[in-house]
Formats: sequence, structure tokens, C-alpha cells
Amino acid sequence: MITVENLTKVYRTFTRREGIFGGLLDLLHRDYRETLAVDGVSFSVERGEIIGYIGSNGAGKSTTIKMLTGILRPTSGHVSINGLVPWKQRTAHVRNIGVLFGQRTQLFWDIAVIESFRLLRKMYDVHKVEFDGRLKEMTELLDLGPLLNKPTRKLSLGQRMRCDFAASLLHDPPVIFLDEPTIGLDVSAKFKVRDAIRHIALERGKTVLLTTHDLTDVEDLCQRIIIIDNGRIIFNGSIKGIKERMGKVRKALIDFHDTVSASSIMQSFDGSSVDAVQRAPNQVELTFATESISPSDLMRRILSDFNVQDFVLKGPELSDIVRKIYDGETAIASRDKAGE
Ligand SMILES: Nc1ncnc2c1ncn2[C@@H]1O[C@H](COP(=O)(O)OP(=O)(O)OP(=O)(O)O)[C@@H](O)[C@H]1O
Ligand SMILES: [Mg+2]
Repeated sequence: MITVENLTKVYRTFTRREGIFGGLLDLLHRDYRETLAVDGVSFSVERGEIIGYIGSNGAGKSTTIKMLTGILRPTSGHVSINGLVPWKQRTAHVRNIGVLFGQRTQLFWDIAVIESFRLLRKMYDVHKVEFDGRLKEMTELLDLGPLLNKPTRKLSLGQRMRCDFAASLLHDPPVIFLDEPTIGLDVSAKFKVRDAIRHIALERGKTVLLTTHDLTDVEDLCQRIIIIDNGRIIFNGSIKGIKERMGKVRKALIDFHDTVSASSIMQSFDGSSVDAVQRAPNQVELTFATESISPSDLMRRILSDFNVQDFVLKGPELSDIVRKIYDGETAIASRDKAGE
């Protein structure tokens, strides 16, 4: 559905010199600075997949999305989406894609949401009957009923995001780009948006490319993630795979009936690969490597040696793993093109 090959974008900006004299110099000779925002990115996405496209600030996510939506022309490389080249066949391409930039709205500020929707219907030339059916579906899915007659400027952020999401789907595009669709949303609004994303991908077979800094979004929605860093892909593979490979260090939080010291637990494990930290007089947090002791063996020993009241086995947390990758703590910077 989406094929990206060697996609590269170099931004060319010119640096202004200071003062009047500098301004005159600028007229004669401009000093250009180049930023390599996306550097030879290649990946593909199948129909119906929800891909998490993640990376730290300035990694090149939005730049990639802008090229895939046809807003920006790449410096080099090739993209095909549903058989079209975004920046060459723009008019046909925009009918194939839905776009949501969480940071700004595509709705008209001063008119009622429903009027914005009607204008979009005209722009995309959607048949009235089709439009009415889809509007009904979206209204139910995203609980838009009470919002439709309000002007966009009177909506809260979460309400606005739900309306924007509906707007990006009204022309029934097969491919959806979501750039930070849950930014700034409270827990309940976030769940609504996530449910809607899941619905359109699973039940309607849409292909979704999702950018977010909230890794719980990714964990909840995506089977596969692509991690971009400094314009290059440093990981492309399943979440399950990355956890298996890198989630080898786990944690267990244990509550005891009476006071138990971290050191007594360390002793019972003979100072091996288990590390214990005292969290409260009767609470200890254990960190252990699953390669040397399995979670079940660990718990069996604790339960037989101590008087346990409660315990929680944690992780592996995607956020911990991704942080390690961002920080370059691991040697996973290998391209896993098969996508596992
Ligand atoms: N219009 C532009 N002109 C010049 N440089 C730009 C432009 N837009 C982005 N950049 C630069 O390109 C790089 C990638 O930016 P991009 O917006 O793609 O990052 P991002 O991954 O979306 O980050 P964020 O998580 O902060 O949204 C950054 O170094 C940024 O400063
Ligand atoms: Mg961005």
C-alpha cells in the first residue's frame, strides 16, 4: 500500500546576517545552511496495518509525513502510495489519503463543524448519500452529536481533535496519516480517538501511519514500529520482537506481611543476577535478567522463602526499551527490513 525507497529531504535555509550592512551583504550573497532532515529512509506498509512511526523531537517524522502526503517534494528517493507518487499526482493522491496534524486544525475556525464537513464534502466531491452515511458512522464512533453545531473555535482540544479526525475520513480514503493525534488529550478523549483508529483499521481495512510521543498509543494500536533518529531508520520491526530481544531485564515489586530487608533477599539469591532495592519497610523491588532466572522461578523462590502479601511483575515496558534505543545504549541500530 505504501512503498518508500531511499527518501531524502534536505532543507535549505539561508542565515540572515545582522544589521543594515549584513542585510545588504545578504542581498549580494546569501549564506545557505543545509539540514538533512530525512536521510535515505526506506520502508513499506501493507494494507490494514497500523504502523507507529516514532522518534525524538526533530528526528524527521513530520518531514516524512509531509513528503508522503505530497505537501513537500523530496530531495531524492521514491514513494508510491496506492500506486501514486504523492508530489506528482497530487490531485488524485489527496483523494486517497486522510491527514490529521494534531498540532493544527483543518476545520474552518468560525463556522459550525457540520458546515466545515459540508465544505470538505464539496472539495472532495463526495456523493451526498455516501457522505450522510459516513457522517452518521463518525458521529456515533466519535460521539460528535453535541459538537456538530458548534463553531470550531468554541471546542475544547479533545473535542476539536475528534472532529478533525472525522473530517480526515469523510471522503473514505484508504490511507490515513496521523501526526500526533492524541497530543494534549485527557485519558478519556485519548481512548475515544484510539478506539476510532482501531475501528477504521481493523473493520474498514484502512492503512494507518501514526506518529506520537505517547508510547502507550503505540503499544495499544500498533503491531509494528519504525524508529527514526537523525533522519535515519534505526529500527523497523514488531513490538513483540523488540521486547523479546531487549526486554530481558524485568522488574518485580513485592509486598511482604512484615519487614523484609532487600539484603536478605539478595542473600537468598546468592547475590546472583537479582538486584533488590528497598522501597518501604515491607516492600522490595527486584530487578532481574530473564536469561539467568525466569520470572516464574524467581517468584517460586520468593514465595517459598518469604511471607508474601502481594506482588506485581512489571514490563518489559516499551517506553524503557525505546528510551534505551534513543540514548544509543544498545547495538540494535540494525535495520530489520523484513519487519519480522
Ligand atoms: N521548513 C523547514 N525548514 C528548515 N528546517 C526544517 C523545516 N522543517 C523541519 N526542519 C528541520 O528538520 C528536522 C526534522 O524536523 P521534523 O519536523 O521532521 O521532526 P519531527 O520528527 O516531526 O519532530 P517533532 O517530534 O518535534 O515533531 C529538524 O532538524 C528541523 O529543525
Ligand atoms: Mg513533528
